[in-house]
Amino acid sequence: MNSPSLFSDPAPVVFDGIKLETYPIISQSTTCPTKPTAQVYDFLFSSYKQKEIIFLEIGVQGGGSLFMWRNFFGKKARIIGIDLNPDAKKFEKYGFEIFIGSQKDEKFLEKVKRKVGKIDIVLDDGGHTYEQQIITAVSLLENIKDNGMLVVEDTHTSYMEGFGPVEYSFINYVKELIDKINHRFSLLNQKYSDNRIWSIEIFESIVAFKVNNKALQTMSQKMENSKKIDGTLQDFRYVDKTKVDILKYFKKT
Ligand SMILES: C[S@@+](CC[C@H](N)C(=O)[O-])C[C@H]1O[C@@H](n2cnc3c(N)ncnc32)[C@H](O)[C@@H]1O
Repeated sequence: MNSPSLFSDPAPVVFDGIKLETYPIISQSTTCPTKPTAQVYDFLFSSYKQKEIIFLEIGVQGGGSLFMWRNFFGKKARIIGIDLNPDAKKFEKYGFEIFIGSQKDEKFLEKVKRKVGKIDIVLDDGGHTYEQQIITAVSLLENIKDNGMLVVEDTHTSYMEGFGPVEYSFINYVKELIDKINHRFSLLNQKYSDNRIWSIEIFESIVAFKVNNKALQTMSQKMENSKKIDGTLQDFRYVDKTKVDILKYFKKT
């Protein structure tokens, strides 16, 4: 039987012999308040269903999302939560591992890393301030398994008041990372490059950093990219001198 998508009807959660009441998959969790969010998670996480993965969610609150992920990933997944609120510990009795501490406390995150080991998926649904999102990403990225990912939710806070100084928003940090990924190109200054992340995927309100160490080992280098079948053909790339208004593509509407 296929395991549920985040859109499917709620199924009763049975875990470790405890039959829990039915948890409506989307409505019990603030993680998936909108269908676009659920759609992105279906897209990013579906290949991890029914596997022995380690999934860490920052921000547990009422516990709804923990049960939602249990339903989604299945029994073999090790599901771990982090929250600042000590009451979140109570979810341990349902088979979740809970760490209490702040996601912007690097020492606390170090302790979690030592205890948990390498993680397949980290999902940050914590306090959503820029400092929390950035510190969590910087600290936990090195602890993601090869082919794993770190996903940050509610990134629209980068365009809102009340989450920190907007010039140092999480999305501005992501833009810097895009520059650093491109600086891996061998003809550019490697001082400005970053080798922790293979790719970044941007969705509405969600950013996913993907780790792929094998792909990262492939150094970019100059290749003979066109075998000349007819050596007399001229490269026309510098011939087109037509003027265009490039600025109009940058204007904010
Ligand atoms: C948006 S709620 C999480 C909702 C939950 N993922 C769900 O979908 O049901 C945010 C949670 O992050 C926690 N939180 C806020 N700041 C935090 C911090 N600095 N470190 C860890 N957890 C934090 C809050 O206590 C709250 O439980």
